[in-house]
Amino acid sequence: MTLLAVAVGGRGPVDPEEPVLHADDQALLRGRAAFETTRVYAGRPFKLDEHIARLAGSAARLGLPQVDLDEFESLARAAIGKAGAGDAVLRIFWTAGRENADRPTALALVSTIPPELEDKRARGIKLVSLPLGVLPDVRAVAPWLLGGVKSTSYAVNMTAEAEAQRRGADDAVFLAADGTVLEGPVTNVWWRLERVLYTPALELGILAGVTRATLIAEAARLGYEVREGVFPVEHMRGAEEAFTSSSIREVLPVVELDGAPIGDGKPNSAARELQDRLRAVALESS
Ligand SMILES: Cc1ncc(COP(=O)(O)O)c(C=O)c1O
Repeated sequence: MTLLAVAVGGRGPVDPEEPVLHADDQALLRGRAAFETTRVYAGRPFKLDEHIARLAGSAARLGLPQVDLDEFESLARAAIGKAGAGDAVLRIFWTAGRENADRPTALALVSTIPPELEDKRARGIKLVSLPLGVLPDVRAVAPWLLGGVKSTSYAVNMTAEAEAQRRGADDAVFLAADGTVLEGPVTNVWWRLERVLYTPALELGILAGVTRATLIAEAARLGYEVREGVFPVEHMRGAEEAFTSSSIREVLPVVELDGAPIGDGKPNSAARELQDRLRAVALESS
């Protein structure tokens, strides 16, 4: 991704090459910052209110000062305006601020969309399952584990993705210690048997994806039944098709899990229909 524009709380747009954080910001020292990522379609950020609300929730869970919703709204729009790009990636950050100071830094970054995504959508992606080593219900009842929180302490997620690539796949899916399917490092996970779509329940302490919520609503309109629940990975292995969802990657078909094909090993109809519907909804609201 190439950085196109940066806006800083209290300052507005700045030169993207300019440093904007102090060396002792706890975002850097401790990974203490909340963040959000969404897609910009035709110059309009998709579901920005939902993302800012989730940022506020993550900030509360991280013990950061309260997020000013309006400040983020105008900061995001300032960065998007400065970037002047129709389709882009918007990321917003609320850092814990400097040591000995409680004023966090608000940032909005606009970047280009990763160019390889449409190739992956056409061919489908390969996943490997990686154990997180936790019992399925622990992240929901142990708030310090930050299940469901988008914080910049994402190094584990990034190394999981790198491990998947090292094994010749594209991405990972995290499993609880008993083999329950959780989520991907930056995606929610889905699979289909006949007209029923399965996706892990939020009670597992996974991130409440904005795309996941959009797809749940749209899937019902397309005549699918959606079952949110606690499912073993074997259930996913036996699916007719599978896919991941996220704001930037949208719907990506999964054609292989741990080296074995899912269904007929090709991108399939629900992923295609939901991707088309997601794009249509995003463009209608822009
Ligand atoms: C761990 C995790 N799960 C799921 C998602 C998908 O969420 P959304 O659809 O809101 O982008 C993300 C997004 O980055 C994520 O980091």
